[in-house]
Amino acid sequence: MDAQALYEMALQATENSYAPYSHFRVGAALLCEDGSVFLGTNVENRSYGLTICAERSAVVSAIAAGKRRFTAVAIATPDAEGPVGPCGACRQVLSEFMEGGSLVVFGHRKEELITTTIGALLPQDSLHELREKRK
Ligand code: THU
Repeated sequence: MDAQALYEMALQATENSYAPYSHFRVGAALLCEDGSVFLGTNVENRSYGLTICAERSAVVSAIAAGKRRFTAVAIATPDAEGPVGPCGACRQVLSEFMEGGSLVVFGHRKEELITTTIGALLPQDSLHELREKRK
């Protein structure tokens, strides 16, 4: 599964976005260690603070299916004017299940994708040692 293909799946996930308040659709596609892919999308609520981001909805779906390790994530934001990286909360949650070198690909259109790693997006992770103890 290459980054472009994973991004296409994230883009597909935006079709199910529930974003009646922001009108900002987000899709996420999470590649698991075993090659399976789980999709997520943002789910808003009239109590705005209860909104769930696409990335975390993908994580919850994968974890509920018994997956524990992700090797890459793609995020599509077709309503944005430029690439939009994952929010701080999502970086933290993704890092729980990804090694620092795992790929994060994001973009508002497939011709302009940013490719980075979760470690680069969450540098000097203060709780890294704690995470290692979960094994
Ligand atoms: N959103 C995500 O789904 N992921 C992000 O990383 C950034 C923001 C959603 C939340 C809300 O539904 C909309 O985008 C606008 O903030």
